[in-house]
Amino acid sequence: MKHFAGIDVGSLTAKAVVIDENNRILGSHIMPVGQDSLAAGMNAYAQALVKAGLKKEDVAAVVSTGYSRKRFTEATMQKTEISCHARGVSVVFPKVATLIDVGGQDSKAMKIGKDGKVLDFAMNDKCAAGTGRFVDVMAHALNLTLGGLSDAALSFKEELTLSSTCTVFGESEVISLLSQGQSVPDISWAIIKSIADRLVSLVKRVGIEQDIAMSGGMAKNRALVSRLEDRIGFDIHVPGEPQIMGAFGAAVIAKGE
Ligand SMILES: Nc1ncnc2c1ncn2[C@@H]1O[C@H](COP(=O)(O)OP(=O)(O)OP(=O)(O)O)[C@@H](O)[C@H]1O
Ligand SMILES: [Mg+2]
Repeated sequence: MKHFAGIDVGSLTAKAVVIDENNRILGSHIMPVGQDSLAAGMNAYAQALVKAGLKKEDVAAVVSTGYSRKRFTEATMQKTEISCHARGVSVVFPKVATLIDVGGQDSKAMKIGKDGKVLDFAMNDKCAAGTGRFVDVMAHALNLTLGGLSDAALSFKEELTLSSTCTVFGESEVISLLSQGQSVPDISWAIIKSIADRLVSLVKRVGIEQDIAMSGGMAKNRALVSRLEDRIGFDIHVPGEPQIMGAFGAAVIAKGE
């Protein structure tokens, strides 16, 4: 049995996945990128290999993707995150027609054809407001973990709306809402609504199909997925571990199919 690997080093996290010929995930690992993206990617790969019980020599081909993909000279091939997320998710949900990948710095909406082929895509402009960074900054301002912000948002009582669409002004607004005595759940929900609105505009640019899926670390934010489902009107398919879909897709591409 041959083995293949994918390494996805994004702006915030490094992800690595090792698979077999049947696309079965044998090992995976996620870690922060920190100061050195090459080291983070290699460490994530080493950890994924340990979990798979394999050595580098056992891996037939490696594909790198993400922001720092070009730094991996050891990789057999380098592919864009867009093609890797599309490929990975289409293995998990073969019917996927629309995909949203929201990471720490980028948001991408894709129109997907047969076998995970990307027919069209749209990306956020150079602004943090529609990305994980927005929620990370707000969670910090509210002294919440990421899961904590999502849980708080789901227990909101009153509809609040953030007037600032910018991350920097939004943070000041959140602090000011707190000082006015607004509740953490209501503010958290306002934050989720703000980012969801931006993502809906983004995904509309490629068209929304019923078979819609979401990947990237932000797909772990249950409040966000729930708000997006309400706005879009369809259930959103979320893979078991959405954050590794880019690395998984890279590993599938490494098989050369
Ligand atoms: N358990 C969690 N609950 C909610 N959100 C989470 C969780 N874990 C990670 N996230 C979100 O995922 C984001 C990071 O996602 P991801 O690892 O896909 O980014 P990345 O690939 O490094 O970035 P990019 O693709 O933009 O370069 C964080 O900003 C954070 O908001
Ligand atoms: Mg990413």
